[in-house]
Amino acid sequence: MRGRFITVEGTEGVGKSTNIAFIQGLLSSAGIQHIVTREPGGTALAEEIRNVLVVPREEPMCELTELLLVFAARAQHLQALIEPNLAKGIWVLCDRFTDATFAYQGGGRGLSTAVIGQLQDLVQGGLRPDCTLLLDAPVDVGMARAGARGALDRFEQEKQAFFEKVRGAYLARVAQEPDRFVVVDASTDLQVVQDSIAKALSLQIDSHKAASDKVNLDGRHG
Ligand code: TMP
Repeated sequence: MRGRFITVEGTEGVGKSTNIAFIQGLLSSAGIQHIVTREPGGTALAEEIRNVLVVPREEPMCELTELLLVFAARAQHLQALIEPNLAKGIWVLCDRFTDATFAYQGGGRGLSTAVIGQLQDLVQGGLRPDCTLLLDAPVDVGMARAGARGALDRFEQEKQAFFEKVRGAYLARVAQEPDRFVVVDASTDLQVVQDSIAKALSLQIDSHKAASDKVNLDGRHG
């Protein structure tokens, strides 16, 4: 059976890294074979593209270049890492995926969501995450946390208005696909945040186990 594809999204400073480490622990305790990866990046080549995207430079990067680079990195990541693992039954936990493109390039930069949708179909075919955790917090809370981490990358240097649009675009994605998303209020206590994450993950783990038991049973009887 294919592995599950779980993605984690959110604006800057919402605690993605801490919570991804927490999810990794949950999957390990449940005995689920998995890998953890990130976008843009995840393979040596895609990490090089990430570097081009995030390092601040003198020449302004045009919005279309940014969009195409994000999808170029994604094409490589999908073919070299994500797809082969899912096909082997290994779960893939990914720090950001295409919802980030709808949020940052669509919402933040104002690029056409129809064009992003076309690139999504071209690069991913029918592949979509099975479950997406959106860590949601007011933009100023996240920006203060991200700012405290030190030097800001090209995206982190954007102003509050940009991140308000990013957050709005994420929430619009949730409204379009409520069944795929689990929205967690990342501005509350970490314990409360992690209780909600654990609940969402246990639903995924239980339904996966039920589905694999059924496959095994059908295999024995068929
Ligand atoms: P990170 O800081 O979460 O590792 O992500 C790097 C930056 O890349 C982050 O500021 C958001 C941005 N990004 C996009 O603009 N579009 C995308 O599709 C992805 C995956 C990330």
